[in-house]
Amino acid sequence: MLSQLKQKILKEISQAKDLNSLEEIYKKYLGRQGELTKVLRSLKDLSEKERKEKGKLANQIKEEIAEKIKTRKRNFSGKTSPALAGKKEWIDVTAPGILPAQGHFHPISLVQRQIEEIFQSMGFSVLDGPEIETEYYNFDALNIPKNHPARDLWDTFWLKDIDLLLRTHTSPMQARYMEKHQPPLRIIVPGRCFRHEATDASHDVQFYQIEGLMVGQDVSMVHFKGVIEGFLKRFFGPEVKMRLRPGHFPFTEPSFEVDIKREGKDWLEIMGAGMVHPNVFKAVGYTPGEWQGFAFGVGLDRLAMLKYKIDDIRLFYSGDLRFLKQF
Ligand code: FA5
Repeated sequence: MLSQLKQKILKEISQAKDLNSLEEIYKKYLGRQGELTKVLRSLKDLSEKERKEKGKLANQIKEEIAEKIKTRKRNFSGKTSPALAGKKEWIDVTAPGILPAQGHFHPISLVQRQIEEIFQSMGFSVLDGPEIETEYYNFDALNIPKNHPARDLWDTFWLKDIDLLLRTHTSPMQARYMEKHQPPLRIIVPGRCFRHEATDASHDVQFYQIEGLMVGQDVSMVHFKGVIEGFLKRFFGPEVKMRLRPGHFPFTEPSFEVDIKREGKDWLEIMGAGMVHPNVFKAVGYTPGEWQGFAFGVGLDRLAMLKYKIDDIRLFYSGDLRFLKQF
C-alpha cells in the first residue's frame, strides 16, 4: 500500500508542469494534513514490530519524495509559471535604462552665454555689476541731474527710507568701471534691470540688458557700427536686417536706437546707444577731449525673443515648464 502511494506521488511529480503544481503536490502528501503525513502519524497505533518495519519504509519514502520535489523545483527555477508571474520579483536585463532627468539652461542664460562668447572674441571683457544701485551711479554720473525731465524715462523702483534703487539699466557700470580704469578699454556687462512700468508683450518689470563700452583715443561711430553689425550677424546669421534711428540719451551724444526686422512683422527696438557724452568722462575723472568712445545697452530678452521666435517676454519669467522644457 505504501509502495503504491509512492508510485502515485512520483508519477505526479514527474508530470508537474510548474513550481506551483509542485507546491500543491508537497502540500497534498507531505503537508500537515498530507496523505503520507497521516500514514506516518497512524504508525503509533501499530505493534512495535510493525511500527519499526513500516516506519522505516514510510520515512524512506518521505525523504525520497521530498528530494524528488526539490530536484524538479530546480528544473523550473528561472521559468515563472503564469500563476506566479507578477508575484515574484525579477529583473529584465535587456530593458533599456531610465535616463536620469538632466537640467538645462534658461533661454536667457543660453543667449547671454552666446553673446559673451562673441564679444570676448572681439576683445571685450565680461563684468558684473550691482542690481541695487545708488542714485548717483544710476543717474547723476550719467549726466541726468535731479529734477531733470530725462529721469522720467526710467520709471524707478526706489528702496524705502534709504537712498538706493533697483537699477533701471546697466549703464551705471560705465561710470563705476571708468572711475577705476584708464582707457583703452572694452567691456560688456550683462545683468538684470527693473522698471516700474506696465507690462506688455515686449516689456516686463524685470528684464536683462547687456551694457557695452569701448573707449580709446580714436574710437568712432564707424567702430560702433562695425562691432554691432559684426555681433548681430554672428548672433542671428548673415541675413539679419538692422537699422539705426536717431535717439536721445543724456549720457551719449549723438544717440541712436537700433532696431531689428522681424520676419513677416514690423521692426523691434533692441538697443539704445551712442558716443559717450563728455560730461560722463568728466564725472569719472577723465580729461574730456582726450578720449572718445561708444556705449550701448541691448535688451537680452528682446534678442532671445527674436532668436527663438517668442512673441511674449513674460513667458521668460512665468516659470512655466511647458515653455522652458523646449530649450
Ligand atoms: C537704456 O536703458 C540705456 N541705458 C541704453 C544705452 C546704453 C544708451 C548706453 C546709450 C548708451 P532704453 O531704455 O532704451 O535705454 O533700454 C535699452 C533696451 O533695453 C531696449 O531697447 C530694450 O531692448 C530693453 N528694455 C528696456 N525696457 C525694457 C522692458 N521694460 N522690458 C524688456 N526690455 C526692455
